[in-house]
Amino acid sequence: MSLVQGLHHITVCASGAQEDVDFLTQVFGQRLIKQTILFDGRYAHYHLYYANADCQPGSVYTTFPYKRVPGRVGSGQISSTAYSVPKGSVKFWKEHLDRHKVPHSGAQERFGQSFLRLSHPSGLQLEVIEDSDDQRNGWTTDQISKDVTTRGFHGPVLSVREVAETERFFVDALGFKKTGTDGAYHRFEVGSGGAAKTVTLVHEPDRAAGSWTFGAGTAHHVAMDLESDEKLAEQKGIYDELGYTACSEIKDRNYFHSIYCRCPGGILVECAATAPGAFARDEAPSELGTHLLLPPWFEEKRAEIIAMLEPIQVPENNRLAGSPEVIAAPVPGMTESSDGPSRRKALFVSGEGSKN
Ligand SMILES: [Fe+2]
Repeated sequence: MSLVQGLHHITVCASGAQEDVDFLTQVFGQRLIKQTILFDGRYAHYHLYYANADCQPGSVYTTFPYKRVPGRVGSGQISSTAYSVPKGSVKFWKEHLDRHKVPHSGAQERFGQSFLRLSHPSGLQLEVIEDSDDQRNGWTTDQISKDVTTRGFHGPVLSVREVAETERFFVDALGFKKTGTDGAYHRFEVGSGGAAKTVTLVHEPDRAAGSWTFGAGTAHHVAMDLESDEKLAEQKGIYDELGYTACSEIKDRNYFHSIYCRCPGGILVECAATAPGAFARDEAPSELGTHLLLPPWFEEKRAEIIAMLEPIQVPENNRLAGSPEVIAAPVPGMTESSDGPSRRKALFVSGEGSKN
């Protein structure tokens, strides 16, 4: 049986921070659930998390607004992120996107499902794909009602120049099954399959490789959902056994713990185990996404970090109406330092030096 339970999150590099917040919350109808920063590197960048109404793994889209460095799109990357929407709602999405002057593909079909691809302001590609089996609780806005809203991920579409080796990676190392081919698209599902348990490869043999760095307008990685740190260690063992020896050590991402391994097609694949308390470990459920939160090991540099970031305003309607004012209890061990290999020190270039 696969250690992978489904998708956990998908992480991309947007461009401007405010345009990312405005587009994803107001036009695409996501709930901003966390404002924090990228935990790696000497420059402070936001790390913004968006999700469905229940903040579930499998709906969490995270962005690094990375205006200072452009990315290059191409193969070996996540080419788009598909969200499932109720049957019949692609028509709504087409009209909604037209109203907001968002470029889109119009209705298309893949594996018998109607879908539409649209552009985020940074150039990132998103999709809505109809799936009547997905009953998750989507976030709603005054323009996007429950009967048309996104439920969470259907799955990422990964551009590869060759299918075979990436197929072996998803099947042998991660426990997916190949469930279909439709033209250039190859579909893989894990567990019971369907939404949030699907990965699609698109075979693009002549497409030049895209960049692997953080860079505006490109996706960075897809994360699989594993049950625990023990399962992450087990997964690392599977990678080693099969010869995928480039797997990282376990990293502490505060809200989850992660290992990373680049698949043969070039796409970075993370395995993540949600930490105790998940996204409510450092702010009340009703306040999720409304404050800039830093892990304990970055707090001493808060002023320096803020000086490097674009100020953002979170739309009022992003807050959870009627939610009880619960202050999350500190999670045991959260303020303890670690002797592990994961980054636990705040080392940033000065705010002045970062304004480029
Ligand atoms: Fe990640």
